[in-house]
Amino acid sequence: MPKPIGEITRGTTGHNRLRRADRWVVAVHGRLLRSAERPLVVDLGYGASHTTTLELFSRLRRVCPTVEVVGVEIDPARVAAARPYEQEGLSFVLGGFELPVGRPPTLVRAFNVLRQYGEAEAWGYWTMLSRAVAPGGVVVEGTCSEVGHRAVWAGLDATGPRTLTFSARFGGFERPSDLAERLPKTLIHRNVPGEPIHAFLRDFDHAWAVNAPLGAYGFRQRWIATARTLARTWPVATRPPLGGGARWRLGELTLPWSALER
Ligand SMILES: C[S@@+](CC[C@H](N)C(=O)[O-])C[C@H]1O[C@@H](n2cnc3c(N)ncnc32)[C@H](O)[C@@H]1O
Repeated sequence: MPKPIGEITRGTTGHNRLRRADRWVVAVHGRLLRSAERPLVVDLGYGASHTTTLELFSRLRRVCPTVEVVGVEIDPARVAAARPYEQEGLSFVLGGFELPVGRPPTLVRAFNVLRQYGEAEAWGYWTMLSRAVAPGGVVVEGTCSEVGHRAVWAGLDATGPRTLTFSARFGGFERPSDLAERLPKTLIHRNVPGEPIHAFLRDFDHAWAVNAPLGAYGFRQRWIATARTLARTWPVATRPPLGGGARWRLGELTLPWSALER
């Protein structure tokens, strides 16, 4: 077997850490999975335990009973530790960015993996992964806090990045730009004056501040109003499946990637 592409990195993970992203995948890509003939999902870099892969599998099976999920991990010891948890439709294999899974996946989820690579490498692996998916397939690549209360992820298709989603637990942040530390590797160094991501986070904070009075009705109302304010000047997704009240009430907000390009 050729050497897997990538490097073994820290294996930190935890129960329900990726719940926010799983919920988004179900809502936004459930239909894509159901329409695939043999839907295959790869969880790339699942870490020291099989937990988040099993959670993804359970959540996806509820909306797509035929989905198969394969956890791919570059550390052989972590593959050995996960194997006892295999079941019909769920397996764990040794591998890296080359995705040794037999057929092109419908969806690749990679969380807290690329963060540990350089920015140029991250762009290269984004391209590699988005070319590896089945026609119409997608990549969801993101980063989150230790327990998953703050997360940011990019959605990619064969043409490259398409969306950027912010997701935060209410009460788990002071201002929206607190999520900046979770930006994908490809954006984190661009959060400087003059760059669109910097202007967006500044406006996000401003909208959050002007809607402070709504905090009297709770963080949720304040977030929803913030999304509405932002949507006046930024092309924030305002309709399902990516946007609108059903997503905003969860503390989510999605922006087209094109808004972040100069
Ligand atoms: C921080 S853990 C993330 C675990 C889990 N995805 C989470 O978010 O909780 C990152 C894992 O990715 C693995 N990894 C890094 N590069 C990889 C690659 N190219 N292919 C497969 N796994 C990789 C590391 O070995 C490590 O176990």
